[in-house]
Amino acid sequence: MAIHLSHRAKAINPSPTLTVSALAKQMQEKGINVINFGVGEPDFNTPQKIKDCAHQAIKDNFTRYTNTSGISSLREAISAKLKRDNDLDCSVKDILVSPGAKASIMFILMAICDPRDEVLIPTPYWVSYNSQVEMVDAHPIFIPTTVDSDFKISVEQLEESIETLSSPRALILNTPNNPTGSVYTQKELEEIAQICLKHNLIIIADEIYEKLVYEGEKHYSIANISKEVREHTVLINGVSKAYAMTGWRLGYAAGPVDIIKSAARIQSHTTSCVNSITQKAAICALDECEDDVQKMRFEFQKRRDILIDGFKEIPHIKYNVPKGAFYAMPDISYYLQNANFYTKSSYFKKTKTKSVRLCEYLIKEHKVAVVPGSAFGVDNYVRFSYANSIDNIKEGLKNFKRGLAESLKR
Ligand SMILES: Cc1ncc(COP(=O)(O)O)c(C=O)c1O
Repeated sequence: MAIHLSHRAKAINPSPTLTVSALAKQMQEKGINVINFGVGEPDFNTPQKIKDCAHQAIKDNFTRYTNTSGISSLREAISAKLKRDNDLDCSVKDILVSPGAKASIMFILMAICDPRDEVLIPTPYWVSYNSQVEMVDAHPIFIPTTVDSDFKISVEQLEESIETLSSPRALILNTPNNPTGSVYTQKELEEIAQICLKHNLIIIADEIYEKLVYEGEKHYSIANISKEVREHTVLINGVSKAYAMTGWRLGYAAGPVDIIKSAARIQSHTTSCVNSITQKAAICALDECEDDVQKMRFEFQKRRDILIDGFKEIPHIKYNVPKGAFYAMPDISYYLQNANFYTKSSYFKKTKTKSVRLCEYLIKEHKVAVVPGSAFGVDNYVRFSYANSIDNIKEGLKNFKRGLAESLKR
């Protein structure tokens, strides 16, 4: 009997970043030393203070369901953080705590989108945005950017895209950005916000990498521009990236109370609340761990500099210097056009874009895993995550450089 699967299930592909990591892991398990630049999470341990708080919560038997939106003491800590870091006044009722920022975005999209609504997404995009938009039966509308525009959309592009749409609902804007490392300036955000207000768009501002900005760069929250913009913005953040807590699963959304309440109702029928122990641990992260964040940020900056120095030695690639997050995205189109990187067997069976083939060749023949640009909606690039040791970054760069050079001779 043929099993019926929904149109949603059929439309959604597995996360390509996880696919690359899985192949790298498979090879590592066979004893092959693959340098993995595919990982989207900090390689540091969760700070000890946070783990101690979690132990204490277990000892105190804080192990039952909590209220859906998150315990008040955590939402108060988030509210204090938003005031301290972003100068935003957000009361606890404007905040929904969810099992990861990924879930926060999903519940917000479910709360604001109707079928066939349109959601604008700059490319390259974080891998889950387009799938999540499709899962709520809305349409992702892509706004292309390139390394030459520092991977940022212009107001003209935004305006032009909106004008072609019949039911524009939201813009998802991610700064600091995964996969490019770009950081929008205050002025750029002000201009974008004006267009969103003009067209009554909700801005889903994904600020999960806010704490990871380098060298005097400043993260600026679009919600901070004016009261009006604030009323059109749902800010997304969480503890995964700043506090090395990816496995704990806690993100949050802060925005207009009607949207937050609706998303909370949806969450109440899906995941209920976030793990009670994680909620206690997150209070400690937000209140007490700024020093740990700064140490990790300092390390990431060192690694970024080493990676970018390595890029300088590689012919024919184009790149920007990432200002935040822990990713870099060189343009490798020269190689896609001029090199031969076909491998005999194919691991990535579903998608066969050029960047996928290049990545498959690099993993298998040069033991270096980078993520194909097509995973992020742009085929001319690959993404490096520099959440990796300095030794690995140096060795991986050598492998990458050799792999590209040899692809031209095959
Ligand atoms: C841009 C962006 N937003 C959201 C998330 C999701 O984070 P979380 O672990 O909180 O679900 C990620 C994780 O990779 C990300 O890169």
